[in-house]
Amino acid sequence: MKVSVIGTGYVGLVTASCFAFLGHDVYCLDINEERINSLNNGEIPIYEPGLDLLLQDCKKNNTFPKFTTNSQEAISHGDFVFIAVGTPSLPNGEPNLTYLQSAAETIGKFLKPGAVVVNKSTVPVGSGNWVSMLVENGIAQRSSKDASGVTTIEKVDFAVASNPEFLREGSAISDSLYPDRIVLGADKPESLVKLKELYRELSEQKFKAPDYCPRPNDFPKVEVIGTDVTSAEMIKYSANSFLAAKISFANQIANICDLVGADVNEVMRGIGSDTRIGHKFLHAGIGWGGSCFGKDVDALISIANDYGYNPSILESTKQVNYMQRELVIKRLQENLKILKGKKIGLLGIAFKPNTDDLRDAPSLDISRALLKAGVQVRACDPVAIPNCKKQNPDLNIEYFDDLYTMAEGLDALILVTEWEQFRNLDMKAILKSMSGNLFLDGRNQYDPKSIAALGFKYIGMGRQA
Ligand SMILES: NC(=O)c1ccc[n+]([C@@H]2O[C@H](COP(=O)([O-])OP(=O)(O)OC[C@H]3O[C@@H](n4cnc5c(N)ncnc54)[C@H](O)[C@@H]3O)[C@@H](O)[C@H]2O)c1
Repeated sequence: MKVSVIGTGYVGLVTASCFAFLGHDVYCLDINEERINSLNNGEIPIYEPGLDLLLQDCKKNNTFPKFTTNSQEAISHGDFVFIAVGTPSLPNGEPNLTYLQSAAETIGKFLKPGAVVVNKSTVPVGSGNWVSMLVENGIAQRSSKDASGVTTIEKVDFAVASNPEFLREGSAISDSLYPDRIVLGADKPESLVKLKELYRELSEQKFKAPDYCPRPNDFPKVEVIGTDVTSAEMIKYSANSFLAAKISFANQIANICDLVGADVNEVMRGIGSDTRIGHKFLHAGIGWGGSCFGKDVDALISIANDYGYNPSILESTKQVNYMQRELVIKRLQENLKILKGKKIGLLGIAFKPNTDDLRDAPSLDISRALLKAGVQVRACDPVAIPNCKKQNPDLNIEYFDDLYTMAEGLDALILVTEWEQFRNLDMKAILKSMSGNLFLDGRNQYDPKSIAALGFKYIGMGRQA
């Protein structure tokens, strides 16, 4: 089928590549010329494991997506036009919808009759109607006047649907090929039928799984949740808010564990075994970051406020999360007393492992607070250093490719991102080259007693040595 994807960020590029891998004819549009040029030169502008191999497969199968900055070329191609542009938070917590607005109006100018405009960006409830109006506005711009001044209004039939995205950066290919569910929100039954058809290969898992991203054992057919547009929009915000709340809950329990002397990992193991609760997203630490949780919780709060409702659980979810970052500084002050002039190293700067994404990364707030306190901040990360340098030139961090070199002369070491590479470190060698002995395990990855036995002062988040 003919698919156009607007926006080639984490979501747009992965979505487009997966559709192309499944045999669809895909066109991608972005306003970022540098990004489109690198994609056309075979370079992938984001770090996402397996994406290079997926695109190589598309090349072999002659389904490599076309990348362009030409709106007409890309939009007029699609029977389905997916919107996957960014919707970052404004300072007041509401999402910035300017990219969505511009994309929707441009779509109207070039949309094919009968096409379905599918919103994959995470957007406030009611955006389906708004996108529809903007597309209409774009269509109206096609109207022409003849010599006698008579205006001909072009009529283009179209529908707007919602298809929220649940992929996680770092496992985006697997999440897209083997999703837990596919949510399709459409107000016209015929759009739902078309979208189900587009997704059939995926929902019925008919495709041959690639070697580098095998199908999980006993993976069933994927549940397709067909619903109305507003409910689909609410599903996305509610899912992210629930996951964020689960982590904040674990963090609040961790802080109580610290007070009473319990080990939060044990507590979460105990409660997660209850099948009504489950183990996932109950890892206490320095909290969530990334482009989605903070922004989506903020947006849902702002929607509720618009209707005069105070969503107190969502407010607390945020508050607990950002307090965890401050807690890191508090713990360092309690232990090192004077921070000025100390050397502190961060293991990891990406907001989570397997990505180079730094949006709302705890490492940035922690580094800023430490630099403000007069600390010499060092950092090491397997992939996010170039992004961090480029996006945060104001941050006077000393970057290291090798963590053992970074450790030399450190007063304290903080585990910020639980990269696989940081799981089994030679902690004995690290301690030997540090000048202090403080290890703040921000992700509760290490066994407190074994680390303390080496001579470290171990600080966990809700765990004591
Ligand atoms: N990143 C995630 O893990 C994730 C997961 C689920 C949902 N989402 C949601 O998906 C949406 C996209 O997120 P992302 O992380 O891919 O964003 P991103 O910032 O990585 O990418 C957005 C892209 O859209 C392009 N763009 C902006 N305006 C455009 C326009 N008018 N025409 C063409 N291109 C345009 C930008 O240049 C950029 O390349 C957001 O709403 C986000 O909340 C993201």
